[in-house]
Amino acid sequence: MKFDASVVDAVCEHVVGRRGEIEVVVAALAADRHILLEGPPGTGKSTLLRALAESADLPFVFVEGNAELTPARLAGQFDPARVLSDGYSADVFIDGPLTEAVRDGALLYVEELNRVPEETLNLLITAMSERELNIPRLGRIPAAKGFRLVAAMNPFDAVGTARISAAVYDRMCRVAMGYQTTEEETSIAARESGAPAGELTRKIVELVRVTRSHPEIRIGSSVRGSIDALLIAEQLSSIRESGSAQTMLDAVLAALSGRIRVHEGTGRTAEEILTELFMEIFGSEPEMPGDDSGKDSTPVGATAD
Ligand SMILES: Nc1ncnc2c1ncn2[C@@H]1O[C@H](COP(=O)(O)OP(=O)(O)OP(=O)(O)O)[C@@H](O)[C@H]1O
Ligand SMILES: [Mg+2]
Repeated sequence: MKFDASVVDAVCEHVVGRRGEIEVVVAALAADRHILLEGPPGTGKSTLLRALAESADLPFVFVEGNAELTPARLAGQFDPARVLSDGYSADVFIDGPLTEAVRDGALLYVEELNRVPEETLNLLITAMSERELNIPRLGRIPAAKGFRLVAAMNPFDAVGTARISAAVYDRMCRVAMGYQTTEEETSIAARESGAPAGELTRKIVELVRVTRSHPEIRIGSSVRGSIDALLIAEQLSSIRESGSAQTMLDAVLAALSGRIRVHEGTGRTAEEILTELFMEIFGSEPEMPGDDSGKDSTPVGATAD
């Protein structure tokens, strides 16, 4: 399959919204460029790339970026046991994901690029700019047509072991993945949790979105917090046989209190801030609005959107 409008349509089927970003990604791949998707956690970077891998009929090689991804792990290495008997011959070399992608003309899809160690990034830079690999004792492996790097990263990741250098940015095209609209996040949260896209889902999404701009909160929650709050609310309502405000609040606290980071020196805990936001958004009435208040055992509903 070529990278064209039909791929865009196919990818859009798996992703809520994001059509503009998907078009740009597909266009950049059609233009044979390397791509970096950059945005905060939970903004659908992996979802978009997975949908692309499923929709485009092209070889994809997946790599999880982390501190243990050494150049030898990425490129591959000689099998130490066989080197003893057979020496450094080509068939003793075990291809790593980069070598596999270079040989096959595949898309090398690297998650969490910011966690990749510096020397490994340098290897990627060489592969991108020279379009070949040079492996000691193995020799030169030219990149087959189609080889491209598609990477995702979160610019604020505290776990990041390497700051992405200008040399990396200069070899890639960047697509920013910001937070989506309330409507889109509501349908993502409903789709992923199986809850209806009704009032309860909208209020949870609203609460989660407020955490991103609250003056006392340093790091707010992604849409993953909304999904988890809805999933827990459903189970907790069934366990307690009640979808009361306390049940919803407990679900919200379980889903969000560890996800958000409060500014130091605010004097309030995550729980206190979240409880206040909950009261503001949900009101203090014990009954939850909307969503089949009669059916207490399954107030969050079972119908997927
Ligand atoms: N546009 C979207 N369409 C469908 N699902 C989405 C979308 N955005 C986010 N999600 C859902 O939200 C969750 C997080 O998305 P995803 O894992 O793609 O984010 P990410 O940007 O890769 O995050 P991270 O930077 O933490 O790796 C997943 O459950 C995913 O299904
Ligand atoms: Mg991801």
